[in-house]
Amino acid sequence: MAIDPAILPILVTGGSGKLARLIVRELLVRGVPPAGLIVTTRTPKRLGEFAALGVEIRDADNDRPETLVEAFRGAKRLLLVSGTPEAFLAGVRVQQHRNAVDAAIAAGVPHLFYTSAPNADPNTAADAHVDHWKTEQMLKESGADWTIMRHWEWPDWHLEHHWRHAVDRGVYYAASGDGCIAHVTRPDTAAADAGALLGTDVAGKTFDITGPERLTARTIHAALCRASGRKIELVELEPDELAAKLLETGTHPDTAPVFAMMATAIREGWYDGFSEDPEVLAGRTRETVGEWLASELPMVLARPPLGPWD
Ligand SMILES: NC(=O)c1ccc[n+]([C@@H]2O[C@H](COP(=O)([O-])OP(=O)(O)OC[C@H]3O[C@@H](n4cnc5c(N)ncnc54)[C@H](OP(=O)(O)O)[C@@H]3O)[C@@H](O)[C@H]2O)c1
Repeated sequence: MAIDPAILPILVTGGSGKLARLIVRELLVRGVPPAGLIVTTRTPKRLGEFAALGVEIRDADNDRPETLVEAFRGAKRLLLVSGTPEAFLAGVRVQQHRNAVDAAIAAGVPHLFYTSAPNADPNTAADAHVDHWKTEQMLKESGADWTIMRHWEWPDWHLEHHWRHAVDRGVYYAASGDGCIAHVTRPDTAAADAGALLGTDVAGKTFDITGPERLTARTIHAALCRASGRKIELVELEPDELAAKLLETGTHPDTAPVFAMMATAIREGWYDGFSEDPEVLAGRTRETVGEWLASELPMVLARPPLGPWD
C-alpha cells in the first residue's frame, strides 16, 4: 500500500520500550522512509539502531513538560505509548499523559493515537484501566483527530509471574471462573498499531486489539499442559483465595494481588472481547497463545524470573 506523504512524519513516544521498538520496526518494514519517522525517548543513546538508519531521535520525558512541545513539533501523527505500571502505582500516569496530550496540541500535531486497554471504563474492575479511560477522554476532548488502540493483555507477564510457576509446580491456580480473556502477543499488537498509524480511515475510531481466541482458565490450562508436555493439575478458586496460593508457588508478592484483581475483572467480563480488526490492520494472522507458548515457554523456564513489572 502506498504511504500518503501527508501523514509523515509519524512520531512514536517512549522509543526505547519493547512495544515502541516493535512498532518502529513494523513501520520501517512497511516502507516508511527513516526520514519519515521521529522517535522520542528519555534515553536517546539506547536508540542507536534507529538513528543509524536516519530516524530522528528526540529527547522527551512525559514527567518534564518543558521537554515535550519542541520534541513533538512537526509530527503529523503521534502515537502516545501509555506510561508504565510503576507510574500507575505512583499515581503519576494520568498527569504524564496530560502533559503529552497538551504538548502535542501546543505543537500543532493534527492526529493523536493512544495505546489503551481492554474495555477502558470508569467502572472497570481492572483498576489500572481507569487511567486509560481518562486518557481516552483527553484525546477525544483535545480538538485533534484521535485513534484509540485498546490493547488486550499480552501473555508475557502472565507466563513470567504465574504460568511458569504452574508448570514448575504442576498445579495451575485459577480464579477467573468462566470468564474470558483474549490475550494478544506484543508483536501482533505492534503490527496492528503500525497498520493504524498508516491507515486512511482511522480518525475517530477505537480499535479492540484482541488476540484470535477468547480464552478461559480451562483453555489456558490445556495450552500450558500441551506446551510443557507435563501433567498440571487445575485448581479453581475464588478471587480472594488466589493471591495466597500464588505466593506459595513462587509468584512475586507485588504481583500476586494483581492476579487476584484481574481474576475478578475477568469474571465480570472486563477482559472479554474479540475483533478481526488487528488482522485487517496488520495484514496478517495473529498467533494463538498455544503457538506463542510453544516457542516462549522453554526459554522462560530456562532463565531466572524477571522483576515484578518486567
Ligand atoms: N497490553 C498489555 O498487556 C500491557 C502490559 C504491560 C504494560 N502495558 C502498557 O504498554 C506500555 C508499553 O509496554 P512496553 O512493554 O513497551 O513497556 P517497557 O518496555 O517497560 O517500556 C516502558 C515505556 O514507557 C516509556 N516511559 C516510561 N516513563 C516515561 C516518561 N516519563 N516519559 C515518556 N515515556 C516514558 C518508555 O520510554 P523511554 O524509556 O524510551 O523514554 C517506554 O516506552 C506500558 O508502558 C504500559 O502502559 C501493556
